[in-house]
Amino acid sequence: MPIQFRKELSQIKPYVQGKPVEVVRREFGLDRIEKLASNENQFGPSPKAVAAMTEEIKNLNFYPEGYPFELTQKLSEKLGVAPERFMVGNGGESIIWTISMTFLDAGDEIIVASPSFDIYKLSATLMGAKTVAVPLKDGGFDIDAMLAAVNEKTKIFWLCSPNNPTGNIADKTQINRIIEALPDHVVLVLDEAYYEFASAREGFPTDSTSLLDIHENLIILRTLSKAYGIAGIRVGYVMTSSLIAEKLNSVKQTFGVNRLAQVGAKAALDDDEYMAFVVRSNSEGIAALEQYYESKGWDYFPSYANFSWVNCGRDSHVIFDALQRRGVIIRPGFLWGWDTWLRISTGTEEQIRFLKEQLDEVL
Ligand SMILES: Cc1ncc(COP(=O)(O)O)c(C=O)c1O
Repeated sequence: MPIQFRKELSQIKPYVQGKPVEVVRREFGLDRIEKLASNENQFGPSPKAVAAMTEEIKNLNFYPEGYPFELTQKLSEKLGVAPERFMVGNGGESIIWTISMTFLDAGDEIIVASPSFDIYKLSATLMGAKTVAVPLKDGGFDIDAMLAAVNEKTKIFWLCSPNNPTGNIADKTQINRIIEALPDHVVLVLDEAYYEFASAREGFPTDSTSLLDIHENLIILRTLSKAYGIAGIRVGYVMTSSLIAEKLNSVKQTFGVNRLAQVGAKAALDDDEYMAFVVRSNSEGIAALEQYYESKGWDYFPSYANFSWVNCGRDSHVIFDALQRRGVIIRPGFLWGWDTWLRISTGTEEQIRFLKEQLDEVL
């Protein structure tokens, strides 16, 4: 008999990664490449994080602490949430997998918006669970339809706010409605990967942690990959009830948060100057992109994150390909079934100028 893979693997469509910069450089022989495709922070890592990690390099022969004690203490102090309510993981993505592994049995269901972050579905599918995807409506979440999709098989309700790839948020009223309506057997995961950017904009509820005391079945997910600029070393965390935190901590990889990640994250969390600069620069970048879209008469979602979602009215396969040949990498909307849309991450003033020049030529 041939080897047998888990049957769910036959249903898994792997995450379609964009080509790395090095590959695009080799393939098209380009000198300049700007990757505005993965919602990365284009301003470099926090200098404090770099200094702390450089210092830590000499200890890399040792395993890290399995439970990142000091980092958890720091997060706890900064966010005013008790340490036992945290789970720190190897980036938000690995935490999403851990959440799916912790809750989902074959035959269970999850609710997601569509489009939204692909890993919710991917990890659910591997666990044998079904994803019920509810399309956005009028540029926002269709909360009524998402709640109507909940049934006795539903285990997780994913709410990505700001939503990737569209950049819209759930406001306070919507979140409160969900919390009131969800039955006790459903966990609400509020994915706030772009929290720091969204906090700079009016209308975004910045006080989600206050909900932890009124709703036991809430998980708030955040990451240091975006505004904190350390995507390459992979640190994310959740805040939840101490019971859920205990379960998640028992499922996560033992040494999942490496030494550089632990010290780098601690230092980054202290770097208020860097954070203020990044958030301000991002708001300027979003404004520049939105101004450009308006000059073209394009429809777009006002963004609360470090990327924007815009309808360029052309086939996104073609625009993506033509831009890539000119050294600009973006994320084409066809990947989510929105064929004429593009997801473009913000960057420095210079990067945005280059993007606009290349896009103008392509058009
Ligand atoms: C909505 C959302 N959640 C979670 C993540 C995971 O981020 P990371 O694994 O870098 O922490 C991302 C990354 O793009 C994201 O967009």
